[in-house]
Amino acid sequence: MQDRQQEFAILAEEIKKLKEQRNAVILAHLYQRPEVQDVADFIGDSLALSQQAAQTDAEVIVFCGVHFMAESAAILSPDKTVLLPEEKAGCPMADMITAEELRAKKKEHPNAVVVCYVNSSAEVKAESDVCCTSANAVKVVQSLPEDAEILFVPDQNLGHWVGLQTGRRIIYWEGYCNTHHRLQGDDIRRAKAEHPEALVLVHPECQPEVVAMADGVFSTSGMIKYAKESPAREFILGTEMGILHQLGKECPGKEFYMASNKLICPNMKSTTLEKVKWALEELEPRITVPEEIRVKAIDSLDKMLAVK
Ligand code: 13P
Ligand code: SF4
Repeated sequence: MQDRQQEFAILAEEIKKLKEQRNAVILAHLYQRPEVQDVADFIGDSLALSQQAAQTDAEVIVFCGVHFMAESAAILSPDKTVLLPEEKAGCPMADMITAEELRAKKKEHPNAVVVCYVNSSAEVKAESDVCCTSANAVKVVQSLPEDAEILFVPDQNLGHWVGLQTGRRIIYWEGYCNTHHRLQGDDIRRAKAEHPEALVLVHPECQPEVVAMADGVFSTSGMIKYAKESPAREFILGTEMGILHQLGKECPGKEFYMASNKLICPNMKSTTLEKVKWALEELEPRITVPEEIRVKAIDSLDKMLAVK
């Protein structure tokens, strides 16, 4: 363990030097391994990271996350070199819808406004009217005309939660996050029996049964903010376990319990410090988006970023 920590410290120093040489910024999602979060310039949820990617002055963006996140950065900052240290880090939910499938669904609902969770491919974004993340999905839907029929893709659980919050008419796609969808009501009941004083905080990618049992439903950054500001001392978490690292740093003295030990996203965990270093050395693997797709996809991302 001690040896591994020493290795991490050496790698972190090397990454720091390479980052300066390359004029690079490292963005890391809150589900990344702790040592990867620790070398990042910005750590956050999907929304915060896409805002950073759109604003940065750096020439190179190293995206420690999954493919759709790096792809969104490439859409928003086409003049930058965007690197995804582990090329195979995908999101199974994003793969649950293709542009062709979406086009067919749009034909069935020609008047629907397509709201697309950022956990989707550039091609699907290009077919959509507006994107959202878990942090702003409710606001994005509320920004649409009240009588609009909404086609929400690809996460059925986020779509369901947004429908409840807004009272809007929503047609759902049947996608889901393999990690969050696994969490069951029984897991929450068990955790509450073990920690009766704890508040239950869950991500809206969880199933409706789980969301209904929660004291709060938040994006990952939202969960950290809430836990920090809450007078409560104990929390049961229904999201990916990577969040524990920043919670530990930002909420000293508070206790966090995972609602289940199944809450691990293997894709988020596939980025390592070795791969970050290699990406900075080689400027590979690069994520690019064909220009004809990018110009269509950027509209839906820009519209999302304009919603305040
Ligand atoms: P947020 O970053 O919006 O909290 O979403 C979590 C997620 O699953 C990203 O893949
Ligand atoms: Fe995709 Fe879920 Fe992993 Fe996020 S946590 S990358 S939504 S599989």
